[in-house]
Amino acid sequence: MYHQQVIGLVKGTSHYKVADSGDSAIASSTEKQAMSVTASLPAVRPLRSARWVPRARVVKSVRSSLTISPAPILTKLQRDCATPLPVLRHVADAMAADMRAGLEVDAGSDLKMILSYVDALPTGNEKGLFYALDLGGTNFRVLRVQLGGKDERVIATEFEQVSIPPELMSGTSEELFDFIATGLTQFAQKETGKFHLPQGRTRELGFTFSFPVKQTSIDSGILMNWTKGFSVSGTAGKDVVACLNEAMKRQGLNMRVSALVNDTVGTLAGARYWDDDVMVAVILGTGTNACYVECVNAIPKLHKPNSTTGGKTIVNTEWGAFSNGLPLTEFDQEMDAQSKNPGEQIFEKTISGMYLGEIVRRVLVRMAEDARLFGDSVPEKLLMPFSLRTPDICAMQQDSSKDFEVVGSILYNVAGVNSNLSTRKTIIDVCDTIAKRGGRLAGAGIVGILQKMEEDSQGIVFGKRTVVAMDGGLYEHYPQYRMYLQDAVTELLGDEISKNIIIEHSKDGSGIGAALLAATNSMYEH
Ligand code: BGC
Repeated sequence: MYHQQVIGLVKGTSHYKVADSGDSAIASSTEKQAMSVTASLPAVRPLRSARWVPRARVVKSVRSSLTISPAPILTKLQRDCATPLPVLRHVADAMAADMRAGLEVDAGSDLKMILSYVDALPTGNEKGLFYALDLGGTNFRVLRVQLGGKDERVIATEFEQVSIPPELMSGTSEELFDFIATGLTQFAQKETGKFHLPQGRTRELGFTFSFPVKQTSIDSGILMNWTKGFSVSGTAGKDVVACLNEAMKRQGLNMRVSALVNDTVGTLAGARYWDDDVMVAVILGTGTNACYVECVNAIPKLHKPNSTTGGKTIVNTEWGAFSNGLPLTEFDQEMDAQSKNPGEQIFEKTISGMYLGEIVRRVLVRMAEDARLFGDSVPEKLLMPFSLRTPDICAMQQDSSKDFEVVGSILYNVAGVNSNLSTRKTIIDVCDTIAKRGGRLAGAGIVGILQKMEEDSQGIVFGKRTVVAMDGGLYEHYPQYRMYLQDAVTELLGDEISKNIIIEHSKDGSGIGAALLAATNSMYEH
């Protein structure tokens, strides 16, 4: 896992070197890619005390001396998680309807439909040195980029990634922002000759803050609520840019936040820099979210009726909060009830990397208790919330060895049990069921967004090449999930239309995207 710093420097590209790529199958390089780290954190509220305590049923052996099969539990799970075409269609339609309701008025639906104040996307003409700070998971990332305009584009990039100590994720706002500002200050001090800040200029920063923020301008926004297991006190209701500015001041760092952006918005900007057809960006990592290019005219809550400018802006949907008509199981309900944010982020809890492993774990515990999946006792280690991580289920699903040895060794490591072939097969089926539901629902969500855009302006997305930029460790590293997502999009749109819809990985686009938006909103002329 990423408990060390990752440093990269490659001239002219956005590629990087990872100093030590760690041990996780799904680990990768940004906030989203820190999914493996986040996924292992105990985001579930302990049942009795601050420390996790095994429940009473841990100590008891499983009941019945008969050999009971886990098959009925699996069959029920598959039935409850099924996403046939009508379910997908319902989710896509409901997503589109919730988008409209959220654009109508604040709190009009589950979807917050946050205005990003990004009205101008990067053009390629941006020049100069810009910084980005990416906070959205258990790591934060700082990056600098030297932009060279249309001809030279990205001349050089350099970044560092630092893991956030778990205690800071539920500490105070000041502690968290001081920690980040210290890292940023140290990074800024290492600016070498490749990166050039003209005399007398203030450094400018694009701040990617990947939580629901009600933006008040391009460079300010109020945190609405934490997600992804964060519960830092004293930040909700505050301007996160002010929090960062104060911390930078305490460090004596002279840097100005020129753009505050969600990671989806950064990804869209970063991808759009290379490809004008990018209209939507989706993050599938620890958490999930999507943003898209919207017509100003189509946002009633902006109170600019009949605007003749035909202007466009980016809207951050915060689709993680979507909940309409999802196929949920008792395991989802239990996990939600015990989470730090019960009743919230239901789509996120069904499809994103922080939760998939945990849902599988809960199913396996049930199978162990009621159907002797692991023999006469329930493995105590498996009772630990979040002990099975999404990278584990991904690795198990990809096991192509004859006896599913990878599955065996993951089970041994995570649960401390030896398993037979039939148990391993059952477990792969459980992983597949949960990943399939997640991928297909994510695909339906994407179609919902495209559908809404198309309904407003015929031909705008379905009649031409349209790119959906994807990022996040779950999307990047889970091939089956990716395949299920694509399948759902094709099923919903049909072969002809889906040929025009390019769902494309935009690796680490959000960091560069935030720096580009800092450039677009620079106080200096390019
Ligand atoms: C946050 C979003 C973010 C997404 C992906 C969600 O939990 O609410 O703002 O874009 O995670 O990082």
